[in-house]
Amino acid sequence: MNSSYMKLIDNLKYLKLNQIITHLDETIDFMNKNNLSFTDALFKLTDYEIDMKEINMIRSMVKVAAFPHLKEVKDFDFSFQPSINKEQILDFTTLRFIEQKENIVFLGSSGVGKTHLATSIGIAAAKKRTSTYFIKCNDLLLNLKKAKLENRLERRLKHYARYKLLIIDEIGYLPIDEDDAKLFFQLINMRYENKSTIFITNANFKSWGDIFQDPKIANAILDRILHHATVINIVGDSYRLKDHIQKEHKS
Ligand SMILES: Nc1ncnc2c1ncn2[C@@H]1O[C@H](COP(=O)(O)OP(=O)(O)OP(=O)(O)O)[C@@H](O)[C@H]1O
Ligand SMILES: [Mg+2]
Repeated sequence: MNSSYMKLIDNLKYLKLNQIITHLDETIDFMNKNNLSFTDALFKLTDYEIDMKEINMIRSMVKVAAFPHLKEVKDFDFSFQPSINKEQILDFTTLRFIEQKENIVFLGSSGVGKTHLATSIGIAAAKKRTSTYFIKCNDLLLNLKKAKLENRLERRLKHYARYKLLIIDEIGYLPIDEDDAKLFFQLINMRYENKSTIFITNANFKSWGDIFQDPKIANAILDRILHHATVINIVGDSYRLKDHIQKEHKS
């Protein structure tokens, strides 16, 4: 082994260019066999490094987004839920709605696939390096309340307002008091016409007055959410109970 080769390996190690190290021998062989220029070979090697950087970047974007699982559109059985328009969901994964700063609302009873589909869209966004964050409504409100107590509400609100896509799951599943409702309103107001949000709820809009314990604030929230939004109302059976339902039909 010539010493400049070993010195090169040392340099690459120092620079942490591990992909170049991995592909160095094959690229040198390929270069010699095919009369590849130095520029072409270097281009090929740096491409390996960039590909890995992209993969790692996507991995970390997905990790940072805190999805409950990594289920994608391809894992969704659209034939089980005929009220859903597959093309519409696929269109969301192009992220056109984020460009247009529009919202999506998934509305429907338990187990119809709301969290699954919202997560799929979130993963598509994170994969395209769109800053995305998934949070349950109750956790969001707890965090905001804590921040308020610690005199850092403004900073926390700005933090949640910055994500290009925020997914708020399980709205209306747990009680929201008046103070919570105000905090929620503040965040929605900051994101309104500025950033896209996916809202997931099992409660129809008429009952939001009760959920937020104040019809006025509920109206103000809904008004902003729905101004530029597509509502996906899923009417169907729970996928969680799929096997039970099949058994019942058989017996
Ligand atoms: N059509 C489907 N094809 C494949 N898996 C599905 C489908 N619908 C739901 N699931 C799966 O069933 C489970 C429940 O779905 P999901 O969590 O999306 O329900 P949900 O509408 O959010 O219900 P909840 O309101 O109770 O939170 C998940 O594991 C999800 O991946
Ligand atoms: Mg859910």
